[in-house]
Amino acid sequence: MSLKKVLITGASGLLGRAIFNEFNANSTWKTLGLAFSRPGNHLKKVDLTNFDEVKAVFDEFKPDVVIHSAAERRPDVVENQTDATKQINVDATKNICILADDMKAWVLFISTDYVFDGTNPPYDVNSVPNPLNKYGVSKYEGEKVALASSAENSVLRVPILYGPIEKLEESAVTVLFTKVKVTDTKCTMSNYERRYPTYCPDIAVVIRKLSDERMKNPDIKGIYHWSGDENMTKYDMAVGMAESFDLGIEHIEADNKSSPGAPRPYDAHLDSSRLDNVLQVPRTPFKSIIKDVLKPFYP
Ligand SMILES: NC(=O)c1ccc[n+]([C@@H]2O[C@H](COP(=O)([O-])OP(=O)(O)OC[C@H]3O[C@@H](n4cnc5c(N)ncnc54)[C@H](OP(=O)(O)O)[C@@H]3O)[C@@H](O)[C@H]2O)c1
Repeated sequence: MSLKKVLITGASGLLGRAIFNEFNANSTWKTLGLAFSRPGNHLKKVDLTNFDEVKAVFDEFKPDVVIHSAAERRPDVVENQTDATKQINVDATKNICILADDMKAWVLFISTDYVFDGTNPPYDVNSVPNPLNKYGVSKYEGEKVALASSAENSVLRVPILYGPIEKLEESAVTVLFTKVKVTDTKCTMSNYERRYPTYCPDIAVVIRKLSDERMKNPDIKGIYHWSGDENMTKYDMAVGMAESFDLGIEHIEADNKSSPGAPRPYDAHLDSSRLDNVLQVPRTPFKSIIKDVLKPFYP
């Protein structure tokens, strides 16, 4: 049996590394992971904003599936770097989709719940996006490019992510622990916006299984959502972390106002039912795994 080939962009990132590990551990796939500033660990260095570099990879590897996870995903950075963000989140997506279409490869574009304004959850795959910040706008533009390039392509929207990390600052969830673990210093945590923290290795299983399914079933196309199902504020997550390590929570103060910086949706809960109807992947409960994720960074 010839192996199917999957090309993963952003394979050095928080989600991309989980996707890379999931495909790499599966013997029915030949996997190529791309990175930019963090190559190594079998990842190939490619600047996705350079068309010639990307074309050379496609010509050599000839993927059947492209999981496009690379992006600038920090909303407050995007607010001040709109041109650079457009290059990676939109223009690079367009080039990847053109090259993929040439070789009839299926593209899965990873997107975000931030395409929604958060006023009327839950959001299903037919809900109309209305992003509140420039990051959400850039990802919505990327989605439109991916879906317009080929009716075969897919978009997978996911919410706030956590998982195995190289440093706490890599995830908007784990970064909270920098303050949670310093119990003699008061801190405030947002207790306003509702979030659904989702474990990256779970999403990686979803993506690998959806890719398996797509290889058999051409009806796998269009928009999908997949989300954890625990409704938490950042304050709830911080308390969960403290309790996992038997730390006090007296130093953590709940802040009931909206978060500063780029505007964020209040509650962009994603309805995952379209994907759950195709395949069932269990959702790892936050409290069952957060200590394992954070242990390398404690004390
Ligand atoms: N993190 C979240 O909470 C979250 C929530 C919803 C949706 N998403 C979406 O999920 C996807 C993955 O996010 P993430 O958290 O894994 O992001 P991340 O950890 O910030 O990783 C970003 C990845 O993009 C790569 N990259 C950036 N610029 C590049 C360029 N010019 N050429 C090649 N590669 C480049 C980076 O490579 P190097 O590091 O090697 O430079 C890195 O692998 C994104 O599409 C994001 O919009 C994320």
